[in-house]
Amino acid sequence: MLDIIKADRLCKTFKVSAKQRRMENITATTHVAVDNLSFTAQPGEIYGLLGPNGAGKTTTLRMLATLIKPDSGDAIVAGRSIVNEPSAVRAAIGFLTSELKLEDYFTPNYLFDFFANLHAVPPEAAAKNKQLLFERFEISEFANVKVAYLSTGMKQKASLAISLAHDPGIIIFDEPTNGLDVITAKTVTDYLQDLRASGKTIILSTHIFSLVQKLCNRVGIIIDGRMITEGTLSEVCNGMDLENKFFELYVQTKGGSNTSTDTSANTSANTSTNTSTNTNDNNVANTNNTTNDNFTHRKAV
Ligand SMILES: Nc1ncnc2c1ncn2[C@@H]1O[C@H](COP(=O)(O)OP(=O)(O)OP(=O)(O)O)[C@@H](O)[C@H]1O
Ligand SMILES: [Mg+2]
Repeated sequence: MLDIIKADRLCKTFKVSAKQRRMENITATTHVAVDNLSFTAQPGEIYGLLGPNGAGKTTTLRMLATLIKPDSGDAIVAGRSIVNEPSAVRAAIGFLTSELKLEDYFTPNYLFDFFANLHAVPPEAAAKNKQLLFERFEISEFANVKVAYLSTGMKQKASLAISLAHDPGIIIFDEPTNGLDVITAKTVTDYLQDLRASGKTIILSTHIFSLVQKLCNRVGIIIDGRMITEGTLSEVCNGMDLENKFFELYVQTKGGSNTSTDTSANTSANTSTNTSTNTNDNNVANTNNTTNDNFTHRKAV
């Protein structure tokens, strides 16, 4: 089948600022966030990027969404290059992160119209799409309430609706259920399944195993910026429970004691041996981001 997303050897290295080095007590001046990462997604599937904190999931999705440029490598999204044709890619995708902050002063109504207009959606189509989305996410009642007064869940649902204002064929979703209660989370995951059923392609990142099991056709496990393994759930798990498989791969990659209780563990995982580091330090380091390597079992589940 034709790949609708084809990420090809993506690399991204960030500068580590002096402040960050002090705070984290490290000496390295650069940090490899994404290291030679390749994967493909096919039309009409939900592809999950699963990995611990700091694995490089958000950085990968931000590159696919053309918010940042890879240092090397490229990705073809809906037939367009993220490096050479970022505008065309942006027109084909909706990108949503739970870190996206809607401007407090505006209303969902205004913001939806603003983004629909930005994407040059004809007013009639925009109005119809808005009505559908606002009804589906029960936003209608709050459509003219300023974002500042909305609950976290309502803000997230409004962000989701706004990111779909141009009815994109590809949805890139960073941690879709982060910070949501179970009811709102279910509204979102049900909707993602409906989007898939209507032929859309969804790439999501998460560190929640159950979300991958519930939603994803295929999954890629990222650790330390590298794609450790990918495939359908059954290919990746190879008879094991996803959580146990994940920990097995994690221990193989990072070292330490294996917490897996499944003794039938397949230890021939495709653990990447690529140790190349891209030290391109032309990127602006963001001191708000911290290197977080302390992934724990508690954090994962
Ligand atoms: N702008 C930046 N400047 C400096 N370092 C960064 C920047 N963005 C990300 N990083 C670092 O790159 C690594 C990967 O970060 P990223 O946010 O992609 O991980 P993640 O898998 O999304 O983690 P999480 O599950 O915590 O969201 C981390 O060590 C992070 O601190
Ligand atoms: Mg992230």
